[in-house]
Amino acid sequence: MAEVAYLECTRCGEHLGASQPQSVCPRDGGVLYARYDLEQIGKTFKRESLLGREPNMWRYREVLPPAEPVSLGEGFTPMLHSREYSNVWIKDEGLNPTGSFKARGLSAAVTMAKKFGLKKLAIPSAGNAASALAAYAAAAGLEAHIFMPRDVPQANLVECQAYGANVALVNGLISDCGRMVAEQKEAKGWFDVTTLKEPYRVEGKKTMGYEVAEQMHWRLPEAIIYPTGGGVGLLGMWKAFEEMRKLGWIGTEQPKMIVVQSAGCAPIPKAWNEGKDTAEAWPQAETLAAGLRVPKAYGDYLILNILRKSNGTAVAVTDEEITHCVLHWARVEGVFAAPEGAASLAAYRKLRASGFLKESDRVVLFNTGSGLKYIDVVSHSFPDSKVSRPASRQIGGIIGPY
Ligand SMILES: Cc1ncc(COP(=O)(O)O)c(C=O)c1O
Ligand SMILES: [Zn+2]
Repeated sequence: MAEVAYLECTRCGEHLGASQPQSVCPRDGGVLYARYDLEQIGKTFKRESLLGREPNMWRYREVLPPAEPVSLGEGFTPMLHSREYSNVWIKDEGLNPTGSFKARGLSAAVTMAKKFGLKKLAIPSAGNAASALAAYAAAAGLEAHIFMPRDVPQANLVECQAYGANVALVNGLISDCGRMVAEQKEAKGWFDVTTLKEPYRVEGKKTMGYEVAEQMHWRLPEAIIYPTGGGVGLLGMWKAFEEMRKLGWIGTEQPKMIVVQSAGCAPIPKAWNEGKDTAEAWPQAETLAAGLRVPKAYGDYLILNILRKSNGTAVAVTDEEITHCVLHWARVEGVFAAPEGAASLAAYRKLRASGFLKESDRVVLFNTGSGLKYIDVVSHSFPDSKVSRPASRQIGGIIGPY
């Protein structure tokens, strides 16, 4: 494992030491990125070094923070070739521990918290980050203090309780949960692992970028569609592409990075369409895709910059389109996706229809979580009668025809 050389502010470029816990840049609140001596690392860490390594995200340990991993086997999820479109792949993050890609970020953050001797971790979450923190904190023997909206998908609440976390259900959105963590953390002695307010969740999530490259045989796709709330996955993948270029693992090609959000909470598409560098807080955010109900992303300036640099775009899709795509993927691909993940398919369809993406473009759609975590949410919104249970199943105990 390599040392993190320093932490760098993504706003002012200030360098901070990596030998103690850090949050954001003390000067301007900018997001901190871990930086490594990639030139040195690249001398011995080659693409071939990965051959035969364990199929989890710690196979890239040379470019991850240096500590004994708190791991539950996260990462190296399937890259499924679509059965419907010959140039589309589904990166199925629903197979991670706790059923979402959030496992990667929290594995890395809890690994470092443990290394620094921190004991109490706090998080505001739309749901999946909460259950991931609860699981990794349990594995590390640390306390998890969780703030989630009251209407969080039920699985996340039950998981957090099962893992023994301390849970507060908040009458509000993730932004209200964030305020509560900020208000209480000092008095309670909590370390705040809020999205982008500590530097290591993005390190875990960047492994998705390494995996896209490795699983696509080191030829990056023309586009990646990513369901975006706080945007950490998108930032992480872009960071991974920059690192791999420095390691000499990939060429100069850059996938178009595409944000998808829900029409009921679409601050990034709005800012993108208006040509802005930052986004405004979205009023009355409402969508069944809980992870996309983020009214204001802390790293909005980074997300919008990546969209510009990659010639990408940002798309909003409706909850109806999302629900339709949950069913479509389940029936056509055999993938029961989280609503957030199914939004990627809805965005792909829109961008093909508009001509932004061509049939020949190789596109990776991120399914960021498992539909199994949203049973209570999606079962109410299935739009057609085809999904009601067959009559024979509705009579208790009788096994249906299939
Ligand atoms: C399933 C799912 N997809 C996407 C997101 C958005 O993730 P990010 O904050 O990295 O943009 C979340 C966040 O909660 C989520 O749970
Ligand atoms: Zn700064």
